[in-house]
Amino acid sequence: MTKQIHLAAHFPGVNNTTVWSDPQAGSHIEFSSFVHLAQTAERAKFDFFFLAEGLRLREQNGQIYDLDVVGRPDTFTVLAALAAVTEHLGLTGTINSTFNEPYEVARQFASLDHLSGGRAGWNVVTSWDAFTGENFRRGGFLPQDQRYERAETFMRTAWELFDSWNGHEVLADKESGVYVTEGAGAFDHHDAHFDISGRFNVPRSPQGRPVILQAGDSDEGREFAAATADAIFSRYGTLEAGQKFYTDVKRRLAKYGRTHDQLKILPAATFVLGDTDADARERAHAVRRQQVSGQTAIKFLEQLWNRDLGGYDPDGPLPEVDPLVGENTVAQGRASVRMYKDPLGTAREWRALAEAKNLSIRELIIEVTARQTFIGSAATVADSINELVQADASDGFILVPHVTPGGLDEFAETVVPRLQDRGVFRTEYTGPTLRDHLGVQPFRTT
Ligand SMILES: Cc1cc2nc3c(=O)[nH]c(=O)nc-3n(C[C@H](O)[C@H](O)[C@H](O)COP(=O)(O)O)c2cc1C
Repeated sequence: MTKQIHLAAHFPGVNNTTVWSDPQAGSHIEFSSFVHLAQTAERAKFDFFFLAEGLRLREQNGQIYDLDVVGRPDTFTVLAALAAVTEHLGLTGTINSTFNEPYEVARQFASLDHLSGGRAGWNVVTSWDAFTGENFRRGGFLPQDQRYERAETFMRTAWELFDSWNGHEVLADKESGVYVTEGAGAFDHHDAHFDISGRFNVPRSPQGRPVILQAGDSDEGREFAAATADAIFSRYGTLEAGQKFYTDVKRRLAKYGRTHDQLKILPAATFVLGDTDADARERAHAVRRQQVSGQTAIKFLEQLWNRDLGGYDPDGPLPEVDPLVGENTVAQGRASVRMYKDPLGTAREWRALAEAKNLSIRELIIEVTARQTFIGSAATVADSINELVQADASDGFILVPHVTPGGLDEFAETVVPRLQDRGVFRTEYTGPTLRDHLGVQPFRTT
């Protein structure tokens, strides 16, 4: 059976994928930027708009990392404002389960679900570092190995709160003088992380529970997704890696009494379009050079080398010294640093590659850091997306444009109609809620 594709629009984030130096680039803080991207996504009948989360300014060598855009406004405030200027589009925000409290978060999502008429989605992340935790009252809280345990119980608690109005509707019966049925909002939750009871004061929202997304990649993270999520935001956008991830997480579902189609896999994907494939390849090359300036290349290298390399020439060869092994102290507040599990081994690979292809530092970093997922004419990109989805490498994609806020316009105007022509993407929304768009229903009681 031909699968229908799910598409989402990621508001460009705080990293070097976002090219703020492009003449077309605008603010990533002003509301008009959020409105532009969201309304483009809605015109193109996307499933949802997506916000990532970063709760502390990133630093490198003890200074604010200012080569990329810096700073971002609060997720709930942005999504609530967008609810007023969109009608159908899902509104999904990343909110971590480590530094927050279930009562507050459940109130915020239930409220967003009310204000938007059932369009709220929650990307549950555990976040990775003590550095971010320092912003909050419990300092470096919580050790890595306890974060998923807290996430799991956070979810159960939030579900209990979302469900606390089920069967207790607002009556507002003027004759009897009864406004609400007895028992509304009652909850009582006690476990190792939360010891709370009382009454939840947001009545049942249109979706009951917001759509749950998950984005951690470890074994624990994948198990958490299989147990709790409606969709996964993954990093595996290619055929082979995508299929491997897809098979792995979908096979975990049976244990929780769930079927394959109850968990959608949505990798992050970038794209560069052109009039022809050759034109797109040329543009893609230029975009990569915008994304990795000489200074950015040095900063990337420092993250692996774990030392100050400010004196090196980005157009010159790799440093002769080796990376400093041990705790990474150069960069704070970014996930990529954790990915270098074997710095000496990675440095050896990079040296071999640089030597074989005669690459400078900058050319090497352009080569080894993420490149665009889809490059080609609109027809080529539409075919590639469809092929990956039909081959079970994913159920769709969360698209990350490299220019704020107009980076999705061309995709919406040229690729989406081709997907619609092929009968694999909706031409109209068929229901009012984000659960309708994704075809997922709440699946588990607390
Ligand atoms: C594709 C992807 C996107 C993520 N986006 C965010 C984010 O926006 N904010 C955040 O705090 N963590 C984000 N994370 C981090 C995860 O929430 C998680 O905390 C981290 O990866 C550690 O969990 P793990 O060991 O299971 O991967 C993301 C992870 C992935 C794989």
